[in-house]
Amino acid sequence: MTKKIDDSKINAALRAAKDFIYDDLTVGIGTGSTVNYFIQALSELVEKDELDILCVPSSIESKIELAKAGLSTGSLIEESELDIYIDGADIITKNFVLIKGGGGALTMEKIMARASEEFIVIADYTKYPRDLNSFPVPIEIIPQTVNTIIKPIFDLGGEFRLRYGTGKIGPVISDNGNIIGDVHFNKSFDPSEMEKALKLIPGVVENGIFPKDADRIIIGYPDSSELVFNKSEKE
Ligand code: 5RP
Repeated sequence: MTKKIDDSKINAALRAAKDFIYDDLTVGIGTGSTVNYFIQALSELVEKDELDILCVPSSIESKIELAKAGLSTGSLIEESELDIYIDGADIITKNFVLIKGGGGALTMEKIMARASEEFIVIADYTKYPRDLNSFPVPIEIIPQTVNTIIKPIFDLGGEFRLRYGTGKIGPVISDNGNIIGDVHFNKSFDPSEMEKALKLIPGVVENGIFPKDADRIIIGYPDSSELVFNKSEKE
């Protein structure tokens, strides 16, 4: 990754910590490199201002990063209502639709975004604005359905591909023990309709379309950051 993009992620993460974190919050923590910068910023802020913050991670990876940063963690079982949820995105359209799940944590990420009072997205400038079909839609599926889902997805205009990682032979397995794949679309689609249609296919646990979920979106640039979307200003 280039330094310009890294600096942009850091600027988005710092802005979220500075403007939206205060004492006594329960903070949902997404997954990814931008979120890892947020965890660092949060840890410094908690130490400097002696804040009492409880973090709820969306993945094993984020739980490990939170532990390394010395932050207190809980789980969604005890903390079912989050004050705020901070996460990255793979792309953001000009209408503020998100595609998420590049890191394979989409199921917990959607659960947490929707269990939270406020969902704040942090992303670098390469993610916004992007066309809806410029990034494949990640999906989590029950392993036995790897072949039965192909035709229903094709009928919706998509092509399902298993996702392969490194360090293990075979497809990527989620923290929930399911298979992660990606659906490629070669033309645009209605995000709310497609989110529901994909969910109705037996075996699909979740998909990475987040049509109207973001409350605020912070885009980082190499030397600055910008709040490009604030839902409360529209209401
Ligand atoms: C993980 C995600 C991430 O938010 C998304 O992949 C962005 O990651 P990064 O901050 O590393 O660019 O959805 O499932």
